[in-house]
Amino acid sequence: MHTVTEDLRSGMDQAVIDRAGEILRRGGLVAFPTETVYGLGADALDAQAAAKIYAAKGRPSDNPLIIHIADWEAIGRIVSEIPENAEKLARAFWPGPLTMILPKSDIVPLTTTGGLSTVAVRMPDHEIARALIRAGGGYIAAPSANTSGRPSPTKAAHVAEDLDGVIDMILDGGDVQIGLESTIVDLTDGTPVILRPGYINQEMLEKVIGSVGVDAALLGENVRPKAPGMKYRHYAPKAELFIVEGTRDQVRERIDALAEKAVREGKKPGIIGTDESKDYYTCGMVKSIGTRTDEITISQHLYSILREFDHSDISVIYSESFETPHMGQAIMNRLFKAAGHQVIKGQE
Ligand code: TXA
Ligand code: MG
Repeated sequence: MHTVTEDLRSGMDQAVIDRAGEILRRGGLVAFPTETVYGLGADALDAQAAAKIYAAKGRPSDNPLIIHIADWEAIGRIVSEIPENAEKLARAFWPGPLTMILPKSDIVPLTTTGGLSTVAVRMPDHEIARALIRAGGGYIAAPSANTSGRPSPTKAAHVAEDLDGVIDMILDGGDVQIGLESTIVDLTDGTPVILRPGYINQEMLEKVIGSVGVDAALLGENVRPKAPGMKYRHYAPKAELFIVEGTRDQVRERIDALAEKAVREGKKPGIIGTDESKDYYTCGMVKSIGTRTDEITISQHLYSILREFDHSDISVIYSESFETPHMGQAIMNRLFKAAGHQVIKGQE
């Protein structure tokens, strides 16, 4: 298959959106930008189209897809009930990086929901995404537009790297804003529960709907996560990745010592630091993820840094940890997964 890339970096183009919408209506696959990561879209109400997503990504069929809508009114057709909390959260955070799990209606195919009786719904905060959703029929299933197991794409080139020749079209809207996938909150069962942390954090949710829990699997307890996708080892870089924890100074010293040792052992170490620390390190391939004074720069670059290391001959990566005040939980959740939970304490 030939993949067409359309450049929308300098703005919307309705003629392009109409062509992309037509592809979706005919059951094809279109990758598009959102504020979180690039999504791989298909008509969510067409089981065959949704099945193509799983095939293109190599995604396990029990891992359900998020349905993207562009208008609040659209939600009524795909859920069997709209709890008051859903309305409150939508008013506060949609369009935005929040996905809600709700009981599904009969028109949503089980292929889309991975066999579940619930459905994940989100309204993205991106003009191109919403225009495409409308042009494509209003209900677009879209997982992150990466091959299963690779870091989520934060620019069109990442999508092409994984899916060129496999999907119909890529809409290039430039770099995404947030860089980590949406927060998922389950509203189907008593107290709302966060299944995947993201930009919208627990505190922000609690201000709107009161007490919100966090899935035990996210707190490191050895239980099965409630979002099927969270059980897979995602975002794994080719090099072995270790997270180093401790005070700022301990972390720098420890990473520098580890990198030196790696070099002595004939390995090629990589380091994930920040604008503040990058000049401290004395060896290895050092990459700054962003600045600690603006944490969104850290979330924005996490996945692209992991991809960059995959293109290098680095064999081991040491990363600082980023327990930032607002997005720290989301950033560390993804970093821990990428590292397969390998942590080194700064002071030992
Ligand atoms: O930011 C995002 O959410 C991006 C952009 C493209 O919108 N999409 C995204 O989709 O991250 P994906 O497929 O990579 O992740 C969807 C997650 C998976 O962990 C999946 O298991 C969970 O949502 N999920 C979907 N439907 C669910 C359901 N009914 N119950 C529980 N978890 C569900
Ligand atoms: Mg994904």
